[in-house]
Amino acid sequence: MTYVAWDESMSVGVPVLDDEHRRLLDLFNGLLESGITPDNHAELSSLLASLRDYVAVHFAREEAMMERCGYPDLDSHLAAHRYFADEVEKLGRDFDGDNATMLRVDLILLLKDWFVEHIQRTDSRYKPFVTGA
Ligand SMILES: [Fe+2]
Repeated sequence: MTYVAWDESMSVGVPVLDDEHRRLLDLFNGLLESGITPDNHAELSSLLASLRDYVAVHFAREEAMMERCGYPDLDSHLAAHRYFADEVEKLGRDFDGDNATMLRVDLILLLKDWFVEHIQRTDSRYKPFVTGA
């Protein structure tokens, strides 16, 4: 089951960033589909590490692009990214504490209430600056 599928409402007008958003959604979906149980420790650990690493790569690219374009609301966007990165760290702590229920709940909240919202509301605000539209 795919929890959230990328669609055009999430396009930020920059193909590489859309691809990265799709990849991040895949990682979230993969984590939720993997069956969050103690038997699955190795797979979960590697998926969580991939999510954390890819979030860092993606945010760095997005932030550099906003800077290049002189995006005026960069500071609040950076703060939103820092919040999300901290929440992803918190997933790692749920996992280290063997709190499978909390890990699942936090993943779903972070995916649906934060990540999708962030793409549609916050990322979409840089679209005119980066595409010149
Ligand atoms: Fe963003």
